[in-house]
Amino acid sequence: MTYLRLEGITKSFNFFVANDNISFDIASGKIHAILGENGAGKTTLMNIISGLYQPDIGKIHLDNKTVNITSANAAIKLGIGTIYQHFMLVPQLSVTENIILGIDRNWRLNIKQKQQKIAALSEFYGLEINPKTKVADLPVGTQQRVEILKVLYRQSKLLILDEPTAVLTPLEIKSLIKILRKLAADGKTIIFISHKLEEVMNLCDTVTVLRQGKVVANRNITETTSDELAALMVGREVSLQLNKSPIQPGKVILSVQNLQVADDRGVTTVRNISFELRSREILGIAGVDGNGQRELADAVAGLRKLKKGKIKFTQNSSNTGYIPEDRQKMGLILQYSIAQNLILKAFKKLPYAHHFLLQSQVINNHAMSAMEEFDIRATGFDVKVSQLSGGNQQKVVLARELAGQPILIVAMQPTRGLDVGATETVQRRLLEERQRGAAIIYISTELQEVMAISDRIAVMYRGEFVGLLDGNTATVEEVGLLMGGG
Ligand SMILES: Nc1ncnc2c1ncn2[C@@H]1O[C@H](COP(=O)(O)OP(=O)(O)O)[C@@H](O)[C@H]1O
Ligand SMILES: [Mg+2]
Repeated sequence: MTYLRLEGITKSFNFFVANDNISFDIASGKIHAILGENGAGKTTLMNIISGLYQPDIGKIHLDNKTVNITSANAAIKLGIGTIYQHFMLVPQLSVTENIILGIDRNWRLNIKQKQQKIAALSEFYGLEINPKTKVADLPVGTQQRVEILKVLYRQSKLLILDEPTAVLTPLEIKSLIKILRKLAADGKTIIFISHKLEEVMNLCDTVTVLRQGKVVANRNITETTSDELAALMVGREVSLQLNKSPIQPGKVILSVQNLQVADDRGVTTVRNISFELRSREILGIAGVDGNGQRELADAVAGLRKLKKGKIKFTQNSSNTGYIPEDRQKMGLILQYSIAQNLILKAFKKLPYAHHFLLQSQVINNHAMSAMEEFDIRATGFDVKVSQLSGGNQQKVVLARELAGQPILIVAMQPTRGLDVGATETVQRRLLEERQRGAAIIYISTELQEVMAISDRIAVMYRGEFVGLLDGNTATVEEVGLLMGGG
């Protein structure tokens, strides 16, 4: 039985159509995915169903009635519960206080009783939350479960989750999936917004694929494949398989000996690290976040002082391309245009500046060809980088850092937050650089990704390399075990 039906929902911001005539049905008790790349219009649609935005055109039917969702409160009254990407909890308050805040005028009344009710709900759905705990003391994954508990307490029948796994560890993702299945089995209808195919295939019953604001397909999960969904999302065939040709590494480019590095607070986070890296070789560094990868990357890129040890370049060391972890803070100047960001590294040099005058013609031509080569999607080279999607921002960083044909490339979580299409572009480019002769350090917390791209794999745990394996023969189990300290 249909629980939610959208009919021709359209929403524009100025002249930009973010949702274009969107229609689909969701049956009650089902988990329905909204799948699409960054910028496809998923969050906009969620905001419409949650009452934050009003559609320009279109109708929403809920439980066989046409509804007007005029505000967030109206949505809650209709039984629509939204779990946002950025949680709305008050850290200083307890779980119980957070949950009843805003529902009850006299929310401090009968707090014991409410606590018991919340504990019972938590128990029933396997959420494992102590209602008395202060929210600030909870890990992110648990805070998300508090948000879920909050909408359950308000007796929501339709739950909407916007990219809920983006902030979670693999273990927390597993537990979330279990909870969502239980909720659906109990009759709740769930909208699961995501750009990750694997999750959608693994969890959902049905899927709507959005591309550039439009519905491009509605499918039952049992009647589709990851490959088909990827192609629908991106609008062309994408290879989920990396095409990596075997290649003979060249001469040693980088030699790291007995490296010791401290973090910003002076705590030693990298120790006893030694390795050599050759031309045409990708050294993948696997590890759980926060095991010293950040400081290692900074040190090799020359951005952090060494406490001990040596980093020796056999070539000109200035020719390093660095793709930093946080492209918005370190990689880009957001209020500058694409063209300006593309020359950040080189703007004092010819041909961009001649007698200290910026050569705008040259800069703009350079930007146009980089945009074409790296598939940077924007209406022009003068668009501010802050207006681009994460994937397109990353392509700007890549275009700039690879422009000088660097002999060493340090890539720190280069595909984080990117969709399939952008991930493919980034990885394909790095493989091309390897072919060209670059030596590459590829750091990622995504194990599958490191396994797929690396010629050798180093596993980092508590600041040290606890394993250095051949990328062709290493297994996921082996590397996974080392990531936890063996
Ligand atoms: N409040 C807004 N004002 C202007 N443009 C917006 C606004 N919200 C979203 N957009 C634009 O609409 C498009 C879709 O955004 P969004 O719904 O957030 O996509 P998704 O969640 O699929 O990544 C993007 O190009 C975005 O820049
Ligand atoms: Mg979004």
